[in-house]
Amino acid sequence: MRPQSETQIGAVSTIRLLQFQLLRKFVTMPVFINLMVAAPQMAILILVGRHDSERHSMQWFSQAWKQALLDLDPALDIRIWPDAGNHSEIELILVWNHPPGLLKQFHHAKAIYSLAAGVDHIFVDPDIDSRLPIVRIVDSYMANDIVQYVAAYVLQYIKRVQHWADKQKNSVWYKQPPFTFADKAIGIMGLGHLGGKAASILQQMGLTVNGWSQSPKQLPGVNQFAGDAQFHEFLSHTDILICMLPLTAKTENILNRNTFSYLRNGAYLINVGRGQHLVEEDLLSALSSGQLSGACLDVFRQEPLPQNHPFWSHPDIRVTPHIASVTNPVTAAPQLYENYRRLMAGLPLFNRVDLQKGY
Ligand SMILES: NC(=O)c1ccc[n+]([C@@H]2O[C@H](COP(=O)([O-])OP(=O)(O)OC[C@H]3O[C@@H](n4cnc5c(N)ncnc54)[C@H](OP(=O)(O)O)[C@@H]3O)[C@@H](O)[C@H]2O)c1
Repeated sequence: MRPQSETQIGAVSTIRLLQFQLLRKFVTMPVFINLMVAAPQMAILILVGRHDSERHSMQWFSQAWKQALLDLDPALDIRIWPDAGNHSEIELILVWNHPPGLLKQFHHAKAIYSLAAGVDHIFVDPDIDSRLPIVRIVDSYMANDIVQYVAAYVLQYIKRVQHWADKQKNSVWYKQPPFTFADKAIGIMGLGHLGGKAASILQQMGLTVNGWSQSPKQLPGVNQFAGDAQFHEFLSHTDILICMLPLTAKTENILNRNTFSYLRNGAYLINVGRGQHLVEEDLLSALSSGQLSGACLDVFRQEPLPQNHPFWSHPDIRVTPHIASVTNPVTAAPQLYENYRRLMAGLPLFNRVDLQKGY
């Protein structure tokens, strides 16, 4: 159990805010800044990696975050798990794939920050205090990164890049026209920060773009579909299906046999959402039957993808190791630091996750 109730947390925040406002009123600016700097800092913990091996292999990521934050404010007290020091001093926890059950040890935590756009890695922990705000990264650098990845694989499919590479292996000169933009309509599942940007850019490139989201959206030039009622219609207009959804109870296993059956025949799949969106056996059957002609997968149920997994050697599947968009601490640190200062001042945080919706 956490010792502080929500009311107590609120009271402390209000007192901090009043202190802040009083200081600002009565103290000249240089003195005010000094007082703020001298005020006790909240200790921040960086908690990356589900197992020791992952923690070691991602040590660079933790260090990069620490450095990016210290570059913004050298006075910050930042600790990297397992060197957490006194657990009761930790008030902000930055996580990626933490060991489930660990967060409950930090009784004075005031917020959990996902070091990624997705938050499903946090919700696998059954012990999270539901009163804690969960915040995520929303970064235009990440959006550009994932849009470039998606555009690259859309183009490689339309221009048959893999096909020519295969022919070259056997020195075969074989002329067959590539597809055209007019042949292949895009369908993007998820029109949030990342999917919305992908839809706009692909549409500006001259492709026909259909987009599907939970609630109706208005993106210029994009054919919009929303909710369960319009899902099948959305699929029926789609040749290249791109999953950019968050992983929730509603979206888990959404890339399945039934979904594929509504797509145009010979459709292509790009999954940059999460591995748990895809029913793997259904993809293999759809490729065998010709319902799908190929797939590009960046995310997997088990990561790293096991060496004996059939996806590795499948001729129509392209595998990338969850790199469609990697959080860049340098571009993302300013928003995290701003939220840290808001937390200190008792102000509302931005980029908060809606716990009801799960994203
Ligand atoms: N592969 C990678 O490297 C990588 C990198 C970053 C992120 N990702 C993945 O990309 C996901 C999306 O990130 P984001 O920042 O774009 O998220 P976001 O801004 O929260 O957008 C999520 C979108 O999905 C829609 N959605 C959610 N549940 C739905 C449902 N049941 N039916 C229809 N639409 C639904 C939402 O609809 P509403 O707008 O109506 O709410 C929203 O448009 C992340 O959660 C993560 O899993 C992958």
